[in-house]
Amino acid sequence: MMFAPDLLKGRVALITGGAGGIGFEISKTYARLGAQVVLASRSQERLDGAVAEMAAEGLTAIAFKTDVRNYDEVEATIERTVEQLGSLDILVNNAAGNFSCPTAELSPNGWRTVVDIDLNGTFYGCRAGYKHLKNSAHGGCIISIVTMLGLSGWPAAAHAAAAKAGIISLSRTLAVEWGGDNIRVNTISPGPIADTLGVQRLYQETGREELERKKTALGRFGRKSEIANAAVYLASDLATYVTGENMVVDGGRWLKYVSA
Ligand code: NAP
Ligand code: COA
Repeated sequence: MMFAPDLLKGRVALITGGAGGIGFEISKTYARLGAQVVLASRSQERLDGAVAEMAAEGLTAIAFKTDVRNYDEVEATIERTVEQLGSLDILVNNAAGNFSCPTAELSPNGWRTVVDIDLNGTFYGCRAGYKHLKNSAHGGCIISIVTMLGLSGWPAAAHAAAAKAGIISLSRTLAVEWGGDNIRVNTISPGPIADTLGVQRLYQETGREELERKKTALGRFGRKSEIANAAVYLASDLATYVTGENMVVDGGRWLKYVSA
């Protein structure tokens, strides 16, 4: 670990989708740096497994079963977090849903489902978290995980692209609206990250793994830890003047065009 071991000491962090993939890496990394972490997602089994895996490493976490598409559930999870741990200092909107589907075949419910999880779920977290984040002794921090494909457009994933673009816009609006409350609002745009469901679904199962790898300037998929490190930086006192930023951590993927 290259950060000071107490970098996030005294902070309470809520991570949606915190029991798997990139979210779990962020949860573990925050906990190693002294934060108290709360994991929120749908599957109780996955939540229990993640808490147990962290306990085996000597890390504590609590978990609240939450579907981010339901405002009341999100609000209840945030209220329970503050009741049990005393504050909410960091909110990481990481939960997402996605599948590959040409837009001409995408059903209205398929569109709505992804926009509900990604964009509406992020708004719900921000909205319900605001009154606690503004009371944070460290200054509140919101980090949402998006992708540059939201800005470029994303053939066969129009729902996720539109939702992620919406999250970037929402984050920039909130950075200004809530700057006076000392809440910083940023996004992280990962490139393709190895050992995640995202890469498995979008590139491995579609036979595009090698092509996608070649399309990064650095010639490789990212590591989950490389995204977690960016999330640590943004949440810490190293980034107290950073707000409204979209931090691209993609190995130069968005700059590179490679024809098939
Ligand atoms: P993942 O493994 O599929 O994790 C998604 C998480 O979201 C799961 O823990 C899932 O848990 C949770 N989730 C899904 N629907 C939910 C809902 N309705 N309510 C609450 N939680 C829900 O994804 P990942 O690949 O680690 O991606 C994490 C984030 O990074 C996402 O925002 C993704 O768009 C972004 N991203 C990923 C990549 C990549 O290469 N993987 C690249 C760019 C951006 P349950 O199923 O238990 O609810
Ligand atoms: N292609 C086309 N449509 C699809 C689809 C696919 N691969 N997968 C789901 N849909 C459609 C369904 O048909 C349904 O629409 P319909 O009612 O018109 O038939 C709609 O999407 C909702 O699907 P459902 O399975 O009921 O949703 P859910 O709430 O159980 O699950 C998902 C949400 C679909 C996003 C599911 O993939 C999920 O839970 N994902 C979480 C993890 C994830 O996606 N990680 C990747 C991150 S990059």
